[in-house]
Amino acid sequence: MAGLLAGKSAVVTGASSGIGSETARALAAAGAAVTLAARRADRLTRLAAELGGEQVAVQPTDMRREEDIRRLFAIARERFGGVDILVNNAGLGRAAPLGSAPTELWREMLEVNVLGLAIATREAIQDMERRGAAGHVVHVASMAAHRVPGPESGMYAATKFAVRALTEALRQELRARKSPIRVTAVSPGHVFTEFADVFTGTPGAQALDSRFKILEPRDVAEAIVWVLTRPPHMEVHDLLVRPTAQKN
Ligand SMILES: NC(=O)c1ccc[n+]([C@@H]2O[C@H](COP(=O)([O-])OP(=O)(O)OC[C@H]3O[C@@H](n4cnc5c(N)ncnc54)[C@H](OP(=O)(O)O)[C@@H]3O)[C@@H](O)[C@H]2O)c1
Repeated sequence: MAGLLAGKSAVVTGASSGIGSETARALAAAGAAVTLAARRADRLTRLAAELGGEQVAVQPTDMRREEDIRRLFAIARERFGGVDILVNNAGLGRAAPLGSAPTELWREMLEVNVLGLAIATREAIQDMERRGAAGHVVHVASMAAHRVPGPESGMYAATKFAVRALTEALRQELRARKSPIRVTAVSPGHVFTEFADVFTGTPGAQALDSRFKILEPRDVAEAIVWVLTRPPHMEVHDLLVRPTAQKN
């Protein structure tokens, strides 16, 4: 994939961990300039140092704050002239039963996974259209966008079902105005990241539940780069990427 994305500018949200960090690495390896966004600036700075060079920018961003998201795209414009690729990866799940969870747990998931994603998408589309760029928006959805994974996952699944709806609606909007911009959802099953720690509130939770080998962040990052490097006439709509039942 080396060089396939040379000259492209990518914004990756949730780049401080898991799928986002690996996607930033894979995009940089494919030659893209990358703007890294998340709240934990120290982690972004470390990743930027690892990637090195002039082709990386860091922008601390809380996806619950619209002004942060606008600033993120302003930085990508200042540093790299705009954005050609948006990877809407920032997201989280919380164990939050519909009959008992505090509203704040639902609000956080809705604001990051749905509203923040939609605001970032709008900012990216406007930037791409201003420059006439044949850009690409990738939403990191989930298998939870396709079926509810369990009783404590209702609101999380609702946010990811919403991401699926937003993917299809954006595709329809872009097609109606004959835009060259593409939109894709990538829907992973279980991936070995900090997601389970956040979901359960237990550090190391994912490592504790390791009966089966699940996906590595790199597996999803490679799928994203594959999606981004298809020919212009081809749009991958929703890519389901699941682990097999291979034992550890
Ligand atoms: N792991 C899985 O099994 C799995 C499966 C399907 C889909 N997914 C999806 O994959 C995406 C990435 O998750 P992951 O598995 O890589 O989990 P992760 O390791 O916990 O990473 C989550 C990322 O989202 C960022 N984030 C969370 N809240 C944020 C906020 N308010 N503002 C800005 N950034 C925020 C985090 O950054 P900061 O905390 O530094 O802000 C972090 O970089 C999510 O959308 C998740 O729903 C994961």
